Amino acid sequence: MSEATFYLSTPIYYVNDAPHIGHAYTTTAGDVLTRWHRQRGERVWFLTGTDEHGTKVARTAAANGVQPQDWCDRLVDDAWRPVLSTVDAANDDFIRTTSERHRKGVQRFWEVVRENGHVYEGSYEGPYCVGCEEFKFPGDLVPGVEEFAGEQVCAVHGRPVESLSEPNWFFRLSSFQDALLAHYEAHPEAVQPTSARNEVLSFIRSGLADISMSRSSVSWGIPLPWDPAQVVYVWFDALLNYVTAVGYGAEPGTPEAEQFEQTWPASVHLVGKDILRFHAVYWPAMLLAAGLPLPATVFAHGWLLVGGEKMSKTKLTGIAPHTIVDHFGSDAFRYYFLRAIAFGQDGSFSWEDMAARYQAELANGLGNLAARATAMVERYCEGVLPSSGLLGPAETALRDKLSAAAATADAAVLVLDFAGGIGAIKEFVDAVNLYVTEQAPWVLAKNGETERLHAVLYTICESLRGIAVLYHPVMPKATTELWSQLGAAAGLGAIGDQLVTGAGDWGQLPAGSLVVKGESLFPRLDEPAS
Ligand code: ME8
Ligand code: MG
Repeated sequence: MSEATFYLSTPIYYVNDAPHIGHAYTTTAGDVLTRWHRQRGERVWFLTGTDEHGTKVARTAAANGVQPQDWCDRLVDDAWRPVLSTVDAANDDFIRTTSERHRKGVQRFWEVVRENGHVYEGSYEGPYCVGCEEFKFPGDLVPGVEEFAGEQVCAVHGRPVESLSEPNWFFRLSSFQDALLAHYEAHPEAVQPTSARNEVLSFIRSGLADISMSRSSVSWGIPLPWDPAQVVYVWFDALLNYVTAVGYGAEPGTPEAEQFEQTWPASVHLVGKDILRFHAVYWPAMLLAAGLPLPATVFAHGWLLVGGEKMSKTKLTGIAPHTIVDHFGSDAFRYYFLRAIAFGQDGSFSWEDMAARYQAELANGLGNLAARATAMVERYCEGVLPSSGLLGPAETALRDKLSAAAATADAAVLVLDFAGGIGAIKEFVDAVNLYVTEQAPWVLAKNGETERLHAVLYTICESLRGIAVLYHPVMPKATTELWSQLGAAAGLGAIGDQLVTGAGDWGQLPAGSLVVKGESLFPRLDEPAS
């Protein structure tokens, strides 16, 4: 048996408009988590991509006077792929639902589900929200306000829904109610956080109705293999990206088929809470219907809010990721959103809060520590890291703190408590800064206490070695720079190859490493031009 893969997905995003920081938030969280698992020495697969079919995208293309495929190609190339480099995401694959590999897998999947007896012909009558691309129940709707006062509107988009009446094919969702409940009873970790789990359980317990799996009044989609006049309902096309991207439906014996064996089921589907029901009710039911194993965990995070409401493409309230990254850099972007908002809860972005944390925690905290340490090794030891000699009580205390911080951070990140993980590392940075102040190596140098001076300088640089390794998944660029300033690669190899699980082991940075004071890790920022 080969080792299981840590397989993580983000949602595939609608290309009706360019990404905002809400999308970048999910992608960043997924990137930090997968980088962390890679640095635990695990085999990792990180998938993201775009959801290109359906009414919403077709209408946007039409409104812009272009063919849907041209619209998708343009948005993917100009906006959705570039945002990955904006936030410095190291995804392994990018799936588009208009790709051939996806179409084949989707058609194969629904053939199987139909052969298994879970699809039948019917007709749908009821409300549909194009913003959500979702068949709604009357209980999902809320009274509208302002221009929509007096109407029932979508609770997410605040806009009136459309009234559909069309023949289509149904998926026998109702017959999976008991199996889903049994699964979630047996696997409490399968939907997280607890608030999401409770929402899912109560939705399932309230009774599952069969649901349309095709659309006859929409043409931008994947044709049903047995009724090509209809296309697969966009969600029942999109969800399948998680299996089609890793080789579902490939001929046995091919590399794709082997990848599927190695990769499926997913370890974590990372989603926003807006799309929880699709991922934790419809998706596992589809998988059961096809006889496939279920993902280990669906984790639904909170929303970035604007004026108390979900930031949204449809409502045009989005902030483009690059407006923040151009100013603060990608590392600070990643750090800020995962540190300042408890993962799973809603949060708001504030320029002032971000600027304050950048200054206090990154520039004055970590950046200043690295600058002082490397400057002192240059000045007092000609840039050659001295050996530590005997550790005194202050050094052993710091050594123990690093080991504790590494353990706390690992435990926190494994349960997607990014703020807790980053907080543990940040506390260690503070402890090292305090150690520098207390030990005052410049005084030791002035007094000619060389042995103590060397012990202190070694301790600071070795602490920075641990910090660099632990922060690498969060801030790949600054930690790579720090690694090079510490001269660590010569003795330890590339930073990306360092295990976070071994980061707390003291004494790894070899004496003799060539330390240089390089560029400031987090430069002082000018106030944005207003
Ligand atoms: O729902 N705060 O795509 P989508 C936090 N194509 N996260 C946010 C956010 C916000 N304000 N806004 C968006 C779709 N997101 C479907 C998914 S998956 C098989 C198909 C993030 O473009 C969050 O992850 O509307 C949310 O679930 C996702 O973007 C929705 O992106
Ligand atoms: Mg949406």
